[in-house]
Amino acid sequence: MGTTEDNRRAWEIANRKYVLESDTFVKVADDGTLLPLEVDTIAPLLRPGSVVLHLQSGNGTEDPALSRLAGSTVVGVDFSAEAATSAQHRVRILESSVSYVVADALRVPLAQECVDLVYTGKGALMWLPDLPTWASEVVRVLRPGGWFFLYEAHPSASLWTHDTDDVRVRSDLSYFGGTRPNDSFPASAIKRFDPDSRSQAIEWQWTMADVVMALLDAGLQLVQLGEHPEPFWRPADAGTVAAWAGTVPNSFSLLATKAG
Ligand SMILES: C[S@@+](CC[C@H](N)C(=O)[O-])C[C@H]1O[C@@H](n2cnc3c(N)ncnc32)[C@H](O)[C@@H]1O
Repeated sequence: MGTTEDNRRAWEIANRKYVLESDTFVKVADDGTLLPLEVDTIAPLLRPGSVVLHLQSGNGTEDPALSRLAGSTVVGVDFSAEAATSAQHRVRILESSVSYVVADALRVPLAQECVDLVYTGKGALMWLPDLPTWASEVVRVLRPGGWFFLYEAHPSASLWTHDTDDVRVRSDLSYFGGTRPNDSFPASAIKRFDPDSRSQAIEWQWTMADVVMALLDAGLQLVQLGEHPEPFWRPADAGTVAAWAGTVPNSFSLLATKAG
């Protein structure tokens, strides 16, 4: 069910949002959307001139702040030309040391061992059909001694209902694999920008073991793994959600390194 091309088409439509709201996002990106946990983890790893690859950079609101962390250079890779174009326009205005490349995250058009830190997440892994290939691309582009950092939706987060009174588990989904049609974003933006479109993005349900083992099998060494109660994203219309009140995991962070 679903292909990378189906997902790319769906994201191209949805990412028009960021082109239309480009001015708003100049300020958002200038203020910076890196979380304290991200800054605390990443900042000590970077030096002036470090090269950071933001894989699946999307709207790229973190990128100006990432480049300011240590005077590093950021390269964003995303298969959506709309996303890359609006993000590129923004970093030109902000005079940030960031550039964008339109490409599949499973075939990154960068030379091997040219990157000091791969940064990714916040709604990235669920779009990838093949984690072992993704992990081997991460390892290929990282220099020995380089770092991989992920802050992502917890694999169980998609199972929580949005009930307000109590935490409940959706009985129509399984933690253990499978795919599902996206029904949040990009779906809402497709309805807004191209209501007649039949484009639909497909999400892959990866477990924690799938993610960790793909990275270890590709040759990375795990340094830190954290599970967090806060979701990385709250849809504007979601209101109060019991599953976000602190008793179940909604996001996780992972730091790994490539042996020097
Ligand atoms: C929710 S956004 C990620 C947000 C981004 N990390 C950020 O913080 O702004 C997901 C992005 O993944 C991109 N994407 C999905 N599958 C991809 C693939 N196979 N290769 C490259 N980009 C992909 C989409 O175009 C979209 O911009």
